[in-house]
Amino acid sequence: MKIVISLGGSVISEMNGNYIKKFAEFVSSSEHSFYIVVGGGKIAREYISFARSLGADEEYLDRIGIMATRLNAMLLNTFFMKKIPETIEEAKSMSPPVIMGGTEPGHSTDAVAAMLAREVKADKLIIATNVDGIYDRDPAVYKDAKKFDRISINELRKMVGDKWNMAGKNVVVDAIACRIIDGAKIKTFVVYGKEIDEIKNAIYGREFKGTEIVV
Ligand code: UTP
Repeated sequence: MKIVISLGGSVISEMNGNYIKKFAEFVSSSEHSFYIVVGGGKIAREYISFARSLGADEEYLDRIGIMATRLNAMLLNTFFMKKIPETIEEAKSMSPPVIMGGTEPGHSTDAVAAMLAREVKADKLIIATNVDGIYDRDPAVYKDAKKFDRISINELRKMVGDKWNMAGKNVVVDAIACRIIDGAKIKTFVVYGKEIDEIKNAIYGREFKGTEIVV
């Protein structure tokens, strides 16, 4: 199978060497073809908010975010030492495993992963994040927030709206990614990525900690 993973920056940027090593081992030993898009996480947020305080505009802030995603991608790439592609076309032309960060301003790495999944005709898109699924409202704020085991892409799109709002904004799956997932009917799984076994469960069609997006 061809698998695209959006590996949240919050999952990888905690400088947990053991996790990164295990993740790399899993990718290299698997029979599947992997495309990994790494997110910006903490360093992206910190640099973006600092640059915002200096007066940088939104496009420039996105560019800073992209650099942070590539920096995180370089951590995982330590175990592969391949070229990190900077566009979807370049990624598509490479043989897997492919490790990359963001591409251009105006969206998140989830959207990059969705575009890549569409272009390589991936069997599955895994959004590996630091929450255990999609909720009807923010579980950190609302104690009675309800988690979805499955959610239709239509319902999700109603929840997230239709625009890319602001650099560094933290939503589980951004609107642009949702639009691509919907348009290309990509089988997508939002998974608690801090446990690599949960990523494996989603890949192998077993029960997993997270939410399936029904397209
Ligand atoms: P991400 O938003 O994709 O990483 O990129 P993340 O969301 O911090 O990782 P998790 O999911 O929370 O763990 C960080 C920022 O970089 C810019 C955006 O500003 C985004 O908010 N970016 C990233 C782009 O403009 N284009 C890209 O292709 C990727």
